[in-house]
Amino acid sequence: MTDRARAIFDAVLPARLPEPVAFSAAAPSNIALSKYWGKRDARLNLPLNSSLSISLAEWGTTTRVGPAYDGTDAVWLNGARLGPETGFTRKVVAFADRFRRGQTLPLHVVTENTIPTAAGLASSASGFAALTRALAGSFGLDLAEDRLSMLARFGSGSATRSLWHGFVRWERGARADGSDSFARPLPEIWPEFRIAIIRVDTGPKSRSSRDGMGHTVATSPLFGQWPAQAEADCTAIEAAIRDRDFPRLGALAEANALAMHATMIAARPALCYLKPESWQVLGRLRAARQDGLEAYATMDAGANVKLIFLEDSTPRIAELFPEAVIVEPFGAAATV
Ligand code: DP6
Repeated sequence: MTDRARAIFDAVLPARLPEPVAFSAAAPSNIALSKYWGKRDARLNLPLNSSLSISLAEWGTTTRVGPAYDGTDAVWLNGARLGPETGFTRKVVAFADRFRRGQTLPLHVVTENTIPTAAGLASSASGFAALTRALAGSFGLDLAEDRLSMLARFGSGSATRSLWHGFVRWERGARADGSDSFARPLPEIWPEFRIAIIRVDTGPKSRSSRDGMGHTVATSPLFGQWPAQAEADCTAIEAAIRDRDFPRLGALAEANALAMHATMIAARPALCYLKPESWQVLGRLRAARQDGLEAYATMDAGANVKLIFLEDSTPRIAELFPEAVIVEPFGAAATV
């Protein structure tokens, strides 16, 4: 851990952690309506711009952290014990080490992802958010929610937003140490809000967001425009949510996603997560919109397309995109 990152954990956690107890926590996955793309500090995982997301209710991660009585860290994922050298185990142990700071407190970490494999969504946001809550609970830490969000950021930027259900805004913050870069849930509840996940990516895993954003920042001549535009989009999307103006929100979210992809396509060499099938879905959506459908698209560092719309468009969406999986972000599952 760099000294600066260590200083953040030292400032928030007690000097010595107690022996861990078993503790479970859940966190939802999320989709950004206004994207985080680009870091101003890679070691502290600080973003260049604020971002705003909607959480995916019951789709997410449940993680249990408890003492390892055999004295060795071990990690389970979806029922299988993973080897110590797997990428997943290394990430989990490295994150736990940020909390442990040299203390010998071996842990068992049991993770279950509830995101359907068919959705093809990454689970690092919900994974690190659930792990942050579970580690805090296991070590009996009484941390404010914004401190938990700030610590989750060290696992993955998007995890900063996965601590809550509903709409969440991650403030970029201004301080060099990142102590003001964390997320907060927005108070608006919009029961009619829907998300459809259209999986088009069945190929090999694309380049990670972390690599992709680093490459874009370093080489894309269009990137210079992005941070200010993204900041403005984030604020405008928050206002559209407050005003319950769905067409304004949808148009802003779609434009923001396409602008992010434009910065990547202009990178050298070009980085293009979208596949011909993604563009085909976007074309079908645009045609349906001309026909009166009120639905908009957003895409992350992958080829899958997510649509946002309101409840009354559900039959039309299901007809046009029968392969879509529909999520109710304010449904019953989001209240637990
Ligand atoms: C396109 O949070 O995965 O999904 O902080 O490097 O772990 P790291 O990146 P990550 O990036 C997410 C990028 C995105 C947009 C978003 O979720 O805001």
